[in-house]
Amino acid sequence: MTGHPEDVINKNEKISLKPSTLLTPVPVVLISCQGNPDGAQPKPNLITVAWAGTINSEPPMVSISVRKSRYSHAQIMETREFVVNLVDQNLLQATDFCGVKSGQSIDKFAACQLTPIVAEKMQIAPAVAESPLTLSCHVTQVIELPSHDLFLAEIIAVQVRPNLFDRENRLRLDRAKLVAYAHGDYYSLGQQLGFFGYSIARPEVLQKRMNRTISKTTKKNPHRR
Ligand SMILES: Cc1cc2nc3c(=O)[nH]c(=O)nc-3n(C[C@H](O)[C@H](O)[C@H](O)COP(=O)(O)O)c2cc1C
Repeated sequence: MTGHPEDVINKNEKISLKPSTLLTPVPVVLISCQGNPDGAQPKPNLITVAWAGTINSEPPMVSISVRKSRYSHAQIMETREFVVNLVDQNLLQATDFCGVKSGQSIDKFAACQLTPIVAEKMQIAPAVAESPLTLSCHVTQVIELPSHDLFLAEIIAVQVRPNLFDRENRLRLDRAKLVAYAHGDYYSLGQQLGFFGYSIARPEVLQKRMNRTISKTTKKNPHRR
């Protein structure tokens, strides 16, 4: 390639980079756990995790990848429990903070003015009251990788804020103002572009599902067509 990368005319041309963790976007979540790796009182703690993923449907399972050096790593190893707290825009500043401070030296719940509450089916790990949706997880396997340990876990309970259901009792996560993470930056989720299977949906289904989005947007901006 010659010239500046931004001037390249063939948009499908690629530049080779060294192998790196550039899978993007990913969710960013707050993991809550509790344990006493120092032998002191069990302390509730929070760790921000971007390397989280859905890995199985029956039973529902997630994975989180956590460095051995994290305080929360020892806590999760001890109790084999954690709660995945989805992050909305209101929780974002606390989420960033919990990703740069260790629970070894501070109480992150107190520092962020977050409320630890009993999580359904968890013996020890609390959930974050301020999160719109929480997944109670029981660790089934720990896979040691060179830099991180991969915790595989079964989701044994899900709790959702009631106002995320519409009048037809459908879960409307589009209303949750969830946050995504891409290459070091946080983003709000924007406009709905389609839905699962929209590329092959019948025209009436397409119109019904996409109209739902249009009417939502119109409510917010009455001048938009
Ligand atoms: C956006 C973001 C994503 C992060 N993702 C991970 C992750 O996936 N795994 C991990 O081990 N640490 C991750 N971290 C770093 C931990 O959250 C951070 O080291 C935290 O202070 C550990 O807290 P602890 O010592 O109380 O466990 C992330 C930090 C940020 C800000």
